[in-house]
Amino acid sequence: MCGILGIVSKKDIISPMVEGLKKLAYRGYDSSGLATINNKTIIKRRASGKIENLEKILSSNPIKGNIGIAHTRWATHGVPNETNAHPHATNRVAIVHNGIIENYKDIIASLKSKFLLDSETDSEVIAHLFTSYLEDGLDINEAVMKLIDSLNGAFAIGILISNQNRLIAVRKGSPLAIGYGDNQNYIGSDAVGLAPYTKKISYLEDGDWAVLDFEKVQIFNKGREVKREINFTNVSRLSIEKGGFKHYMHKEIHEQPTAIGETLKSYIDLDRKTFNITSSLFNKDINRITMVACGTSSYACRVARFWFEKLANIPVHIDIASEYRYRNIIHSEDELVMFISQSGETRDTIACLEEVKKAKIKNFSIVNVSDSSIARLSDDTIVTLAGPEIGVASTKAFTTQLFTLLTLAIKLGVIKNQISLKEEKELIDELIEIPSLMNKTLDKESEIRSIASEIYTAKDILYIGRGESHAIALEGALKLKEISYIHAEGYAAGELKHGPIALVDENVPIIGILPTNKLFDKTASNLAEVYARGGKIIGITDEVGAKKIDDISSHIFTIEKCSQICQPIILTIPIQLLAYHIAVFKGTDVDQPRNLAKSVTVE
Ligand code: AGP
Repeated sequence: MCGILGIVSKKDIISPMVEGLKKLAYRGYDSSGLATINNKTIIKRRASGKIENLEKILSSNPIKGNIGIAHTRWATHGVPNETNAHPHATNRVAIVHNGIIENYKDIIASLKSKFLLDSETDSEVIAHLFTSYLEDGLDINEAVMKLIDSLNGAFAIGILISNQNRLIAVRKGSPLAIGYGDNQNYIGSDAVGLAPYTKKISYLEDGDWAVLDFEKVQIFNKGREVKREINFTNVSRLSIEKGGFKHYMHKEIHEQPTAIGETLKSYIDLDRKTFNITSSLFNKDINRITMVACGTSSYACRVARFWFEKLANIPVHIDIASEYRYRNIIHSEDELVMFISQSGETRDTIACLEEVKKAKIKNFSIVNVSDSSIARLSDDTIVTLAGPEIGVASTKAFTTQLFTLLTLAIKLGVIKNQISLKEEKELIDELIEIPSLMNKTLDKESEIRSIASEIYTAKDILYIGRGESHAIALEGALKLKEISYIHAEGYAAGELKHGPIALVDENVPIIGILPTNKLFDKTASNLAEVYARGGKIIGITDEVGAKKIDDISSHIFTIEKCSQICQPIILTIPIQLLAYHIAVFKGTDVDQPRNLAKSVTVE
């Protein structure tokens, strides 16, 4: 979603700012722009489409400056054209904004006589409102305070004022970070955007604003100067490079065995074969778990439900965040609400966490970004050690979420005396096998590529599975939709005959996910029903299963034999690779698919 950048320096900032914008591109965008100050005049350049278009404009019409703001826009209000691209400016003020100004129409009505709007955005009013406060004689801090009070909704804003060599950063509801450099300081939506410049970062809190010049940064809240902790981010320049792969997604798929290995080492004492996880929230008194998340993270919850129910004998309720808080939720004191998010910045998930906190219910988060809003808001947190995930389609974040949830389920099973110490050690032995099983599956990538070459022209693809494999079917269909734009659906295999089987004909490939377990035969029967109706079956199973569906399948991909609890993690690899190779055959923008944002910071 929209990315914000700002630099104040002694040197020219235009080309570093364009480089920074490229790092923010992973968040998802459809136009970009930047503004600087020259002889007390605001100059801006903006372009629709890719950042390369902005670069072309800058090379035919160059600008210079040592202070500036820049933006990648993910359109909410108004089409993604140049006029709606940020920065928006008056003759005195330029702004970039991430979030939504819910009362922008009221503000326009209240200020109508004073200005004409150029764009269709909700953001442009911020520039006019702030200008009007300065024209009323308010100083910068007074004007920012009044701005925060006047705007409803979520926002992170970068502001440039024509006669000032200072940048202003404002945060309420949308993330914004400050970067500290040598004779230059920065604002950025996240640590990835700031990675080309600095590792020293602090995060603004709600209601904070910062005033930055090249030498110092001051942060304020409610009119008082405040201190925010400065941390060294682990997001390095290297960790956000493609490392020889054509796409980030491909690199991230291949990083999974290492990411799981890191998680293993951190959360398990491999010598004693016990868990290092110490959160007091996982205790004997927990009798009910609710999991809230969006998208792929919600599919991780769907898999995890089976683990918590089986290993810890605890009922698990799952909800997607955009629905959860609009229901009349009946909480109980023995409940733990878990929030799962790669970015830790998903607005819908944050909104639910805020509600749960208000209700004083114990809450725990699993995030991939340790200093994210969700991590900072929740009672306790565990960080998945996937490293920065740049591809919009989540891959290594998903499998590290699965792995972390599995370790927590086992740990809770031990705490609640559902699992003996001997069983705990046996389960840990199974977990230790996962990175090598993943590697063996990745080694067979060429087989998946060949299947992809045969089905990439399909208009619709169905994924089916039962139990945990149903969740993997949902994830497989989402992955494919996101990056190949092929219509895909994941179904519980047994549900097919209740409606979706009407979709089946010889043009619809059916991906059956059916490892050998107690649900295998039932799923195989569902595949037989599809085969009888002309469906083209691609089975994802293991050697034993392959023999049983050989006669009805046009292709079979086999994973290594592994225990049932590890199967969903291993089965994820082929469905990720299948989506990836289909997208590559189709020639789509794998890492930045149309219309999608990595970090969804609006509701
Ligand atoms: C995954 O491929 C998607 N891009 C998307 O569904 C994502 O999982 C969802 O937006 C949730 O994001 P989060 O994990 O950062 O909260």
